[in-house]
Amino acid sequence: MAAPTVFFVLGGPGSGKGTNCQRLVEEFGFSHLSAGDLLREEGKKDTELGLKITEILKAGQIVPSEVTVALLTNAIRDAPNPAGFLIDGFPRKADQALMFEEGVAKAKSILYFDCSEETMENRLLGRAAGAAARDDDNIETIRRRFRVNVEQCMPVVESYRKDGRCITVDANGDKDAVYATVRQLFIDMGKSQ
Ligand code: ADP
Ligand code: C5P
Ligand code: MG
Repeated sequence: MAAPTVFFVLGGPGSGKGTNCQRLVEEFGFSHLSAGDLLREEGKKDTELGLKITEILKAGQIVPSEVTVALLTNAIRDAPNPAGFLIDGFPRKADQALMFEEGVAKAKSILYFDCSEETMENRLLGRAAGAAARDDDNIETIRRRFRVNVEQCMPVVESYRKDGRCITVDANGDKDAVYATVRQLFIDMGKSQ
């Protein structure tokens, strides 16, 4: 089977990755795979692995790469792939990038949502107050996730910036403003093929 077309969607917690991926699915027909959603789903299982994943997510830490890469590989295998995959919240560590790109597919581009921690914190606290509240959307875990983002995830973004594949989006604006930028990027990418 030919390698799938893959875009990595990166950015701190609350930067708007999931929100924009949903709209891209509707408009461009991509498949959206959120590493965090796949991990939360696996974490619901009453297995040793499920319990371990839940613990790590509650602590705001990164799940070992082989677990997340296996979940993504299975999801890619099972999904229809009309226009490509938006892999959201992955890779969050250098070894995840290597394992996926050597074993599954090389990402075509990396979309990085650049957002201030103040804005991300406000958005996550907003999410925590609503129906989509998550166990890790409490202020203590949010701040730990910010630290993990700076220490472990940002070096991945920097390495993609250096190799010329990273496209940075200013994600501080309102939902429609951010999505307008994102959709234009995909339109332009389509034209330059
Ligand atoms: P991520 O997947 O990057 O963690 P989400 O897309 O889940 O972030 O967004 C986190 C929260 O912020 C959600 O409640 C979402 O509705 C809200 N949100 C997303 N983008 C924006 C935006 N541009 N302006 C205001 N709120 C936003
Ligand atoms: O992207 P999202 O905010 O849904 O991720 C939630 C949590 O899932 C992260 O804080 C982290 O604990 C875990 N995760 C991970 N490795 C990834 C993506 C998410 O360990 N690549
Ligand atoms: Mg998300």
